[in-house]
Amino acid sequence: MTDRYAVVGHPVAHSKSPAIHAAFARQTGEKIDYTTLEAPLDGFVDTVAMFLAMGGAGCNVTVPFKEAAYEFANQLTERAEQAGAVNTLWLDDDGVVGDNTDGAGLVRDLRRHTVLAGKRILLLGAGGAARGVIGPLLAERPTALVIANRSQDKADALAAHFADIGPISAARYDALAGQVFDIVINATSASLAGEPLPVPDTLWHEGVLAYDMMYGKEETPFLKQAAAASQRLDGLGMLVEQAAEAFFVWRGVRPDTAPVLALLREQLQG
Ligand code: ATR
Repeated sequence: MTDRYAVVGHPVAHSKSPAIHAAFARQTGEKIDYTTLEAPLDGFVDTVAMFLAMGGAGCNVTVPFKEAAYEFANQLTERAEQAGAVNTLWLDDDGVVGDNTDGAGLVRDLRRHTVLAGKRILLLGAGGAARGVIGPLLAERPTALVIANRSQDKADALAAHFADIGPISAARYDALAGQVFDIVINATSASLAGEPLPVPDTLWHEGVLAYDMMYGKEETPFLKQAAAASQRLDGLGMLVEQAAEAFFVWRGVRPDTAPVLALLREQLQG
């Protein structure tokens, strides 16, 4: 029997998730059908409830519904609870389970290129994208995780929220000059507006890895700013890894992400 899955968002037509999951299914021999499902902005719950009632096995959830999915789930995994958002849903005997694979996806992608334990990490942004990855980043045991955000109160609130689980603190953008980090991650939406971030150039020294959770056909404004960093990565790898983690949660099989990422990269730049 073919199990049905979908990615729910608004807009969602251009999502790469169906192509990624189709590639995983071909590779692993799992029988799944995965489509896009656009929900009206005020109709997330109805759309997903209908999909599940009609036999859907599970969904991924993307912008702007990850918080709505968190509210909708009857049970949450620990990482979804920490993230305050859900990007992966499925049905079990007790109802709808909500998980969040974004942070695991980021960490898996980063770990292909570096070690996180013992490192100083700077996370730019304090919105949903930042909150979603803090728990998994702290679980890697960095020496420090510093959050910088334009609105300082949001950075302070996030640091306070996660203070019990690791060495997290908040800093002002203008206090970053002269500070040294091993890894700098952009979790803001500044790239969407094509805007540079108010970070000092002193961040980009020998050995630093710059990671933008965004990606695009062109190099993102953040990665342009970070031209002097030793390694620069965009969020395409995270996209594939968070999908692989969802596939694993649903199917119990872990796909090989490298060929799928290579294919997406080729398509993006082709
Ligand atoms: P998301 O869920 O994608 O994180 P969000 O909750 O709207 O989206 O948060 C957007 C993040 O990008 C915030 O951290 C925001 O900073 P503020 O909280 O100070 O607004 C950040 N952001 C957006 N545009 C930015 C810009 N031009 N420069 C710096 N930060 C920006």
